[in-house]
Amino acid sequence: MPLTRLIVQQFRNIKACDIELSTGFNFLIGPNGSGKTSVLEAIYLLGHGRSFKSSLTGRIIQNECDELFVHGRFLNSDQFELPIGINKQRDGTTEVKIGGQSGQKLAQLAQVLPLQLIHPEGFDLLTDGPKFRRAFIDWGVFHTESAFFDAWGRFKRLNKQRNALLKTARSYRELSYWDQEMARLAESISQWRSDYIEQMKVVAEQICREFLPEFDIQLKYYRGWDKDTPYQEILEKNFERDQSLGYTFSGPNKADLRIKLNGTPVEDVLSRGQLKLMVCALRVAQGQHLTQVTKKQCIYLIDDFASELDSQRRSRLAECLKATGAQVFVSSITESQIADMRDDNGQVFHVEHGKIEQG
Ligand SMILES: Nc1ncnc2c1ncn2[C@@H]1O[C@H](COP(=O)(O)OP(=O)(O)OP(=O)(O)O)[C@@H](O)[C@H]1O
Ligand SMILES: [Mg+2]
Repeated sequence: MPLTRLIVQQFRNIKACDIELSTGFNFLIGPNGSGKTSVLEAIYLLGHGRSFKSSLTGRIIQNECDELFVHGRFLNSDQFELPIGINKQRDGTTEVKIGGQSGQKLAQLAQVLPLQLIHPEGFDLLTDGPKFRRAFIDWGVFHTESAFFDAWGRFKRLNKQRNALLKTARSYRELSYWDQEMARLAESISQWRSDYIEQMKVVAEQICREFLPEFDIQLKYYRGWDKDTPYQEILEKNFERDQSLGYTFSGPNKADLRIKLNGTPVEDVLSRGQLKLMVCALRVAQGQHLTQVTKKQCIYLIDDFASELDSQRRSRLAECLKATGAQVFVSSITESQIADMRDDNGQVFHVEHGKIEQG
């Protein structure tokens, strides 16, 4: 759901910014260190309650200030403009306000502003450990299955309790009561994830074929334990191993999305530009699938758009994003790099020393 206005105060090098946004493309143009990524980071904070660059609030609040504010207005599904805002203080206090109501939860921010971030460090989705791909899957499940958020939170709490119990338990009987609920949750979580991947991969495979026609992509969900054994049985069977490890080895917290191209892991095959295209394809696919299922539009944040991509690939990505009809924020050092993407609906902002001016 697009933002129509953005107000950022005391965030990194941005002292104060108040801009009217396009519901189509918004371009942030400026030299190194001017504040382009910081604007994207501020929007991300508004949708997630945290930064994508630092987990320390003190790093994102402007030096010598005690708090930061990111406010805005967004269009809801009935095209009504509503206010949204987050305030963070140095002691970690966070306040979220949506539609004039205070005390809202961070998960509600995510419901209102589904975001897809594409940035230069985003290759970790393809090249690093499974936690990045789990986060990718769970973004989609969170937005399409309303019971997921609570079930996953409850599973994580039970898993923590189980790991503590493993250290003291003398026999499996001491765990079996807890394991019943953990197994029930694990089976549901896994089913939702699997259903989500099955549906979303149709869109993803199609976009990947457009972006990387030379490869045949395969996406396969791994649920985190043997596919033929109920989770309850796994927990019981692996009790001794889990006890010697001091934690529960198998489960939905080990799930992964295995991505192969012509049968080979992606990181062994793709160049850096191709990796970027693949990340873009997967993220755009998630956004498109979200719109198909829920009618919600997500907002795309694309940091350092031009890096790694030649002009032909840049145009292809731009066309694909335009076709989604979604709101897009693009940062770039020069205007020439975004020339292909500009249209009458687009809005250019010049960023310099933390000042953002409409161009
Ligand atoms: N807490 C803070 N308070 C004040 N300034 C900060 C803070 N954190 C970072 N900065 C500064 O804010 C600027 C933010 O830069 P940002 O990453 O947004 O630049 P950019 O325009 O994306 O540059 P590039 O093109 O190099 O990616 C940097 O100059 C950085 O030193
Ligand atoms: Mg930057």
